[in-house]
Amino acid sequence: MSIKTTAMTAKLKFKEKGGDIKMKKSRVVNSLKIQFPAKSANEAFSRALISSFAAQLDPTVEELCDIKTAVSEAVTNCIVHAYDDSVPEKKKIIKMHCFYDENNLLSVKITDNGRGIEDVKKAMEPLYTTGGEDRSGMGFPIMQSFTDELKVKSVLYKGTTVTLKKYIGKTNYDI
Ligand SMILES: Nc1ncnc2c1ncn2[C@@H]1O[C@H](COP(=O)(O)OP(=O)(O)O)[C@@H](O)[C@H]1O
Ligand SMILES: [Mg+2]
Repeated sequence: MSIKTTAMTAKLKFKEKGGDIKMKKSRVVNSLKIQFPAKSANEAFSRALISSFAAQLDPTVEELCDIKTAVSEAVTNCIVHAYDDSVPEKKKIIKMHCFYDENNLLSVKITDNGRGIEDVKKAMEPLYTTGGEDRSGMGFPIMQSFTDELKVKSVLYKGTTVTLKKYIGKTNYDI
């Protein structure tokens, strides 16, 4: 069994017990900020973007797939849920802030200025959706299981910020 598997198992056990992973604070090595319109065409763009950025950390194929999937879920939520038709097109914006530190901890903050979420805890429950039959209500659970940390901050009528954190390429974390 590799060190990675052992560490991952320990981390999962810790998560199951309701604990948060203690993440080491460390110097930011590289960062990128970008904003783009909340259009469905840009979901694929966000995947390509995080893929290129994370490539600097020499990720495994699995790590790359995981972070791309999590980012895609967060960006899709901004596209689908954040803005209704009353918002002018030019104000339908998604901001993405990506950075990583010396411990290979990759962070991605995805922000919209949309309607916000009334009850974040409820919204994060598996199968909860306000999107009707087209949606699965599994976006947040997927983001949670494919990353090491998920944080959601939302203010009604102001917007939502989802922060995804994932160690890439090594398992240098404290639990
Ligand atoms: N950026 C957002 N702005 C407003 N509401 C959101 C946003 N992201 C998620 N939500 C709310 O949280 C619910 C759950 O999201 P999610 O787990 O991704 O499932 P789904 O997208 O399939 O509905 C959504 O149905 C929506 O009500
Ligand atoms: Mg979703």
